[in-house]
Amino acid sequence: MDRIRIRGGRPLSGKIAIGGAKNAALPLMAASLLTDEKLVLTNLPRLADITTLSHLLVQHGVSITMNGAKPEETGHVLELRARRIANTTAPYDLVRKMRASVLVLGPLLARCGEAKVSLPGGCSIGPRPVDLHLKGLERLGATIELHQGYIEATARKGLVGAEIIFPVVSVGATENLMMAATLAEGETTLVNAAREPEIVDLARCLAAMGAEIDGAGSDRIRIRGVKRLVGARHRVIPDRIETGTYIMATAITGGAVELVGAEYAAIAAVARVLEGAGVEVTETPKGIAIRRRNGRLTGVDVMTEPFPGFPTDLQAQMMATMTTADGAAMITETIFENRFMHVPELCRMGANINVHGASAMVRGVPKLAGAPVMATDLRASVSLVLAGLAAEGETVINRIYHLDRGYEHLEEKLAACGAEIERLVGD
Ligand code: UD1
Repeated sequence: MDRIRIRGGRPLSGKIAIGGAKNAALPLMAASLLTDEKLVLTNLPRLADITTLSHLLVQHGVSITMNGAKPEETGHVLELRARRIANTTAPYDLVRKMRASVLVLGPLLARCGEAKVSLPGGCSIGPRPVDLHLKGLERLGATIELHQGYIEATARKGLVGAEIIFPVVSVGATENLMMAATLAEGETTLVNAAREPEIVDLARCLAAMGAEIDGAGSDRIRIRGVKRLVGARHRVIPDRIETGTYIMATAITGGAVELVGAEYAAIAAVARVLEGAGVEVTETPKGIAIRRRNGRLTGVDVMTEPFPGFPTDLQAQMMATMTTADGAAMITETIFENRFMHVPELCRMGANINVHGASAMVRGVPKLAGAPVMATDLRASVSLVLAGLAAEGETVINRIYHLDRGYEHLEEKLAACGAEIERLVGD
């Protein structure tokens, strides 16, 4: 298994190109199931999660080609065409690899009147149910049964628009229902919808495919169903989580980096928090520039919230960043249970962190010390990379396949800014 070795203590300096957003790309790819015409997605990152969803879509009958970018474009170009749906079952073996696979449920049901999708099951950051996806589809007239680990959904006469009020904000459920509603009869309103930039991006792509959607980006989205959708070409938004991760990598090492292609508005809450900790985050014509003001960082409290709040997907990285700040930082996780698996590993590197329920108290220490570490999910793994960049001595991170799910060319991007980081290829 591959590992990453870091010799810490070097400030980052230079430019890093920000890729297309994984969490925008996945629902956009699922949207290709809604039409028999070609959907072309540009600025796509090359990541393991994209490959996993491609495998799932191919077995549903989607033909997919991935091309290199044209000279004027960054990222990759993916062409998806679901001329005919060959199979409406999403099997366990593919769904278990990635929870976002459940995003095929809404589009398959809307287009074919039936879908059978394996329940994604638990994962390392808490139980993560899909009840909101299912209740929403029932409101649109689907019949849902759970049978031997599968969600069996049918709507033989098609879906019918309705008002759906989400008791909790869910990104995935908002996306699944927005896609399903595009082909339903009549109007659907999603109340207490997620407001993440990835939702807005999906709505823009669906609109280019002929869907009628208003209000994406607010907590109330209105979709008027249409008879059919058509092909489109769409550019995936920049990855705000990759952006935030490199902001914190710069902050923790005390460097100065420009993130080319990054979008400030998508990480405004993160920028505000880091400003409070002593980091300058400014918009530039090409993206965002980051510079640690003077000396050490200052501890700041953070609570994760749905967008526009501080994202849960940056909580682990923020915690790593706070380990060597002056004073203390209280980090509260409100979105997922059990998303503190990085804490014991950070403590092995010398961090002083105490967890009480959903909050972690981080007391800054003068220095971290390199150590062999291991992580259990994508964002936890990258928080250990950040800690390794700042630590004295050598850090070896095991199980880095998690990183390959969400960070394209991580070592190359960091090494180009002066980090001493390399991948050790295992058997
Ligand atoms: C998406 C992101 C993930 C991010 C998360 C929160 C993708 C592919 N993944 O995940 O990286 O961490 O948003 O920003 O975009 N919930 C229910 N019932 C449901 C659905 C969700 O109770 O049916 C709960 C979850 O357990 C969680 C909360 O709602 O506590 C938010 O989850 P949700 O927004 O749905 O996360 P995902 O869409 O899975």
